[in-house]
Amino acid sequence: MPNALSSPQHPFPRGWFQIGRSHELLAGDVRAVKYFGKDLVLFRNESGEVGLLDAHCQHLGAHLGVGGKVNGDSVQCPWHGWCWDTEGRNTAIPYSVEDCKPNVRVGNWHVREWYGNIVTWNDWEPGGEPYWEPPKIPELEGDDFYSLHNEYSDHLWKVKCHPQMPLENAVDFAHIEYVHGHTDPPELVEVRSKDHWIRFDVAVEYGRGKKSTWLTPGGPVESMMEIEGFGIGFGTVRFPGIWPTVMVTSITPIDENYSAYYFQQASKRGEGETGDLPEGMAKSMIDLQVGVIPQDFPIWENMEYLENPNPAREEGKDLLQLRSWCAQFYPPSVGDIPPVNASRA
Ligand code: FES
Ligand SMILES: [Fe+2]
Repeated sequence: MPNALSSPQHPFPRGWFQIGRSHELLAGDVRAVKYFGKDLVLFRNESGEVGLLDAHCQHLGAHLGVGGKVNGDSVQCPWHGWCWDTEGRNTAIPYSVEDCKPNVRVGNWHVREWYGNIVTWNDWEPGGEPYWEPPKIPELEGDDFYSLHNEYSDHLWKVKCHPQMPLENAVDFAHIEYVHGHTDPPELVEVRSKDHWIRFDVAVEYGRGKKSTWLTPGGPVESMMEIEGFGIGFGTVRFPGIWPTVMVTSITPIDENYSAYYFQQASKRGEGETGDLPEGMAKSMIDLQVGVIPQDFPIWENMEYLENPNPAREEGKDLLQLRSWCAQFYPPSVGDIPPVNASRA
């Protein structure tokens, strides 16, 4: 059966993507996970290091994440007890005169712990190495802001979409009236990009025409929204002028159709706010985003990606600029890999 969802160029672009949260993976935990169309095992060894390996043990092929246990610095296979470390090296064959097989490896993935998130590098090129690091977020270096990870901030949606679609949303202003119900859409003022980084500066007038709103108690505020992407599907949004806030998202492909949409947001604490759970403006800013983001999902889940769309005169340049920047994260010749639609026929 052909699938109605088509993808931009390739389902799994190169780059960093979130695959979990640090506080949900304690030393000794082993989990079966699936991302980028692959079965994987995620674990934290007794030294506290996180490992992400291809799922299948290279002895006879058991899934290491289904019944596997942490043993020292390794994950131990549930079938015959062979052990594999975070680099995918065989560290023990418990019942054999052979201590281990130094030349046999399970495929391993580059992992970083980044502001309480577990992120991995996806590459469509075998052996492709990360050539940038996840960005520094100054707001999260001190105590002025709430933690990104509190039970109110963390959200995870499973959405039938390609990770490029939320990014394309950043240059799509015509949809804001129809999908999000705002009749005075923001205006894209500037797009800048360098290598893996892209930034959109968007002029917004909050509370236009209203004496006072919860967001703008002193009357309308003209401000810039700063959207930054670090590769496809991995980025931050800031709302200066309203309340110091940083939103962090990763749209991580699960398979050719679905993505995990990880959302977190941290705002500056208000006067006298000392607890872990956001109050006041910090809480309202989360409520605002968590209400708005899912409004796009039904469109993405049922759309067909057009490689040759027909943008209106006002929107063509920005969409083209964005898609040209995105091309660096896909194989140079998409003809070298099976076309996404053909593989689903
Ligand atoms: S299949 Fe893993 S130890 Fe045998
Ligand atoms: Fe949107």
